[in-house]
Amino acid sequence: MVNEHDISEAVAVLRRGGLVAFPTETVYGLGCDARSPEALRHLYAVKGRPAGHPVIVHLPGTEHLDRWAATVPRSAHVLAEACWPGPLTVIVPRAELVPDEVTGGRPGVAVRVPNQPVALALLHAFDGGIAAPSANRFGRVSPTTAADVGDDLGSDVDLILDGGPCTIGVESTIVDCTGPEPAIVRIGGVPKEQLEALLGHAIETRVDGETVAPGTLPVHYAPDASVIVLERDEVETAAAATIAAGKRVGLLALDPPPSVPAEVVVLDAPIDVAHFAQVLYARLREADRLDLDVLYAVAPPECGIGAAVIDRLRRAGGSKSS
Ligand code: TXA
Ligand code: MG
Repeated sequence: MVNEHDISEAVAVLRRGGLVAFPTETVYGLGCDARSPEALRHLYAVKGRPAGHPVIVHLPGTEHLDRWAATVPRSAHVLAEACWPGPLTVIVPRAELVPDEVTGGRPGVAVRVPNQPVALALLHAFDGGIAAPSANRFGRVSPTTAADVGDDLGSDVDLILDGGPCTIGVESTIVDCTGPEPAIVRIGGVPKEQLEALLGHAIETRVDGETVAPGTLPVHYAPDASVIVLERDEVETAAAATIAAGKRVGLLALDPPPSVPAEVVVLDAPIDVAHFAQVLYARLREADRLDLDVLYAVAPPECGIGAAVIDRLRRAGGSKSS
């Protein structure tokens, strides 16, 4: 576990422009000093992310928002007050100090205060903004343990802070607050229902080309196995046909149907929707470890965090339907 010495070392790494992987409640982030263009360029190179993609700036507390935002729209204020620290990112008009490398030249900057003790200790000790995408190579499955980060990034990261497994397991919900009405640009840890209750009105989900960026690309969060989302009563027939074609087949479902062919590798079933989110990326990694060709997934109910699980399953499979 992480102690004060580790935090000081991590701060020193950040101050000299290095990369620190750290836990958040959603997924592990690959962090650097958000004020340093050189550190940001190095981070992009390690991540393998094309230039021009923006990153989220993590802050120690709501009181830092004013430094990074030119103005704080009412919707951003309401949502941040209610959800921070927590799995919500808001996009607000950027302040002048925000480097272009953070926003990819966009007029808005994405900011969030994570709800994880190690992340908060690091942010408070650093006393500034830490830019951090998920700590995986571009397009791959996001890491939810320190070991996942090490497997994916190896010695390209200067320091990995191990804060145990992430409690939420899917990325933050991102709300763009720069337009006339706030819009969801990525569903995640905070459900749409909660945003609407806080705002007092309905909120749109926007999937336009304007903000096309890593987490919003159709194929993302992808393991090597083909992930196919289907209904529970379709699994048996689909699996039989795929097995007959000589493929290794797995199944991920809250309630796996008992009638699936014996050859199907049934991954440990999550106990409920929140647990599904928590273990989703671990199960996708497991599918690759087991060398599965196809992973069938039965979607959980779409309410609450279920919507984020469904979104990630579809993106893992490269579906263009969401
Ligand atoms: O839960 C999370 O959000 C995790 C943890 C580490 O905080 N971070 C994360 O970062 O998922 P990343 O980079 O993997 O995904 C952030 C998404 C990307 O789709 C990015 O394009 C979008 O947020 N984004 C970041 N800044 C933006 C901006 N200024 N305007 C529009 N989209 C932005
Ligand atoms: Mg990511």
